[in-house]
Amino acid sequence: MTMAQVPALRVTDPAVFGRVAVLMGGSSSEREVSLDSGRNVLEALRARGVDAHAVDGIPELVDALVHGMFDRVFNILHGNRGGGEDGVLQGFLQAFEVPYTGSGVLGSALTMDKIRTKQVWLSLGLPTPRFLRLSPGADLRAAALELGLPVFVKPSCEGSSVGAVRVETEAALEEAERVAREYGGEMLMEALVVGDELTVGILGDVALPSIRIVPKGGWYDYQAKYVAEDTMYLCPGLEGDDETAIRALALSAFRAAGASGWGRVDVMRDAGSGRLNLLEVNTAPGMTSHSLVPKAAREFGIAFDELCWRILEQSLPLDGGATP
Ligand SMILES: Nc1ncnc2c1ncn2[C@@H]1O[C@H](COP(=O)(O)OP(=O)(O)O)[C@@H](O)[C@H]1O
Ligand SMILES: [Mg+2]
Repeated sequence: MTMAQVPALRVTDPAVFGRVAVLMGGSSSEREVSLDSGRNVLEALRARGVDAHAVDGIPELVDALVHGMFDRVFNILHGNRGGGEDGVLQGFLQAFEVPYTGSGVLGSALTMDKIRTKQVWLSLGLPTPRFLRLSPGADLRAAALELGLPVFVKPSCEGSSVGAVRVETEAALEEAERVAREYGGEMLMEALVVGDELTVGILGDVALPSIRIVPKGGWYDYQAKYVAEDTMYLCPGLEGDDETAIRALALSAFRAAGASGWGRVDVMRDAGSGRLNLLEVNTAPGMTSHSLVPKAAREFGIAFDELCWRILEQSLPLDGGATP
């Protein structure tokens, strides 16, 4: 695969978009991040002359749509359970015939569930770390024996490293057990990959340059993601054929999971073998000042305002007339 170029803009007149709801906030655990992302998107679209307005959460959006206030939705809600990234919002908007940005019902719902996303990848021969599904109340010790330490234990349907525990010793299993009890939902125990953490932004049919994340504290937790200023980001994260391979893999993984439009694929690269391991797909990734898709887009020559515009373009009908 050659490094693809971003196609020309489809529209240049902001009036084509009509009134745009920038949907942010919501009630998920990622509310604050989403508000931050949403404010940035809103500012960028307005700077380009789009008639864009902030809407906080799905109930407020429903009310506005019932009153015919918006022509389309730029969805920047993160997370599940009313968070807007899990397919529920997408189904609602589709039923209301309101165009929106990003993945549709299937891609949003599937990728919100890490376990089932991995099952799809495995069925297609796409590489992902070995794992076990932990239903609520499962015996973590037995699972750790079966999979072998070290492992990573994380909720199947959360984001932003919420509820994720790295378990290297039997003693550390207690912390994972406590988190699992508190969380109460389905968890997944995954073989720990020791190596580089990489992520690949997707914009339309293009995999953007990868980013290698080098956190100070060892792994990329909530603190490193949204607060710390000392996490290092290298872009592109790999060189030559390795970079080509990770972009191709990320695009395949994104499409295999039914995702479309834009998003981000998280990958770990085993330090010993260099083998790439897919972790997860984010269908409405962050657009904060720390966020990775904007960084990758910039490296690719796309400034933040233009990135927002290009994502919004995805809500326009394709040439054939169908909404993507
Ligand atoms: N199997 C694993 N091996 C090593 N690190 C992992 C593994 N799974 C997750 N992590 C670490 O935890 C972070 C969050 O995991 P991820 O699967 O991307 O979920 P989310 O971002 O939705 O919380 C990753 O960015 C990575 O640093
Ligand atoms: Mg992630």
